[in-house]
Amino acid sequence: MDSTLTQSELNEASKIKNDQFYTDVITGLSSSPKRLNSKYFYDAVGDKLFQDLMNNPEYYPTNCELEIFSKKTAEITDAIITDGNAFDLIELGAGDAMKSTYLLKYLLAQKAEFTYLPIDISDNVISYLTITLPVTLPGLNITGLNGEYFHMLEKAAAISPRRKVVLFLGSNIGNMPVNDALEFCRELRRHLSPGDMVLIGMDLKKNPKVVLAAYNDKEGITKRFNLNLLERINRELNGNFDVSKFDHYPTYDPETGACKSYLISTVDQQVTIGDKETISFLKDEYIYMEISQKFTPQQAAQMAESAGFKQVDEFFDSKKWFTDAIWVAS
Ligand code: AVI
Repeated sequence: MDSTLTQSELNEASKIKNDQFYTDVITGLSSSPKRLNSKYFYDAVGDKLFQDLMNNPEYYPTNCELEIFSKKTAEITDAIITDGNAFDLIELGAGDAMKSTYLLKYLLAQKAEFTYLPIDISDNVISYLTITLPVTLPGLNITGLNGEYFHMLEKAAAISPRRKVVLFLGSNIGNMPVNDALEFCRELRRHLSPGDMVLIGMDLKKNPKVVLAAYNDKEGITKRFNLNLLERINRELNGNFDVSKFDHYPTYDPETGACKSYLISTVDQQVTIGDKETISFLKDEYIYMEISQKFTPQQAAQMAESAGFKQVDEFFDSKKWFTDAIWVAS
C-alpha cells in the first residue's frame, strides 16, 4: 500500500496539531496561575534559537554532554554492545544527532552490526538526517521515524525483534515535571523488553549561579526563546501579544533542583487570541513557562529502579556537571 499522505490528509493533520496547540494555550492561559507548555517552544524560530543557545558558552549542558560522547566513546560503546549481537540504536528526539554521531562513527569503526533509528516529531529533522548521515557516515543503516516517541517505538518493535538501545539525551527528561518524568520512564519500560537498554542524559545539581546563568544568558537568547512562544501564538493562533510588555524571569532552587522560567507581565493588559478569547493580565502577573529539573546521580539511579530498570553504568564530564547513565530493562 502507498503510505504517502495526500495534500488533504496533510492539511487535516496540520489542522489537528493547530487545534491541540490552541486548546492547550487557552487552557493554560485561563488557569490560575497561568502556564504554557514548553514543548511548544520548538517551531522553526524556536529551533534556531535553541541552536544558538547550545552554542552559547553560558549554556553548559550541551558542551558537557558533547565532552562525554567525544571522550568516553569507547567505554559507552563497550557498555551498549554487550554480547556483540545485532541491535537497533533508537534515538528519541534526535535533533541534529551531533552527540550520537560520535557513537555512530565509533560503532561503524568497530564493525558493530546495528541500525540507527532516529525518532523526531519534526519531519524536517528526519529527512535531513536520513539524507545527510549516510553521506557523512558511509555504511550506516538508518531508518528515520517521524512521529510521537511511543508510537514510533511501537513501529520500531514491529520493524525488527532485535535488542533495542534507546538514546534519550540532552536532559530532555528534565523538561517534564518530576512525576511526569517518572511516568515517562515507566511508559518507556513498558515499550521495551528485558535486556533492552536506555542511555539517558541528565543535567546535575551544581553551583546555583552556574545553573542560573545558563538560563539567564547575557545575550538574552533564553529570553527570546521564551518570548518566541508568545510570538508563535501571534503567528499561528492570530494572537496580539506585545512581547515588549513581558519580562523573562528564571529561578533556580538548589534544594529541589528545579530551574523554572516565567514571563512576567510588566503592565495591566489584555491579549486577544483568535476571534473569541481575551486573556487579562495584571501588572506583575506571571506565566509559568518551563521546568529544567537538575538531578543528583543518586536520583538518576533511583529513577531507573522505580521505572523497572537497573542502572549499570554512568559517565560524567570532567566537571561532573552532567551525566549519561545506562539503564537495562529488568
Ligand atoms: C531541551 N532542554 C533540555 C533545554 C533545557 O535546558 O531545559 C531547553 C532550554 N530551555 C532553556 N534553555 C534551554
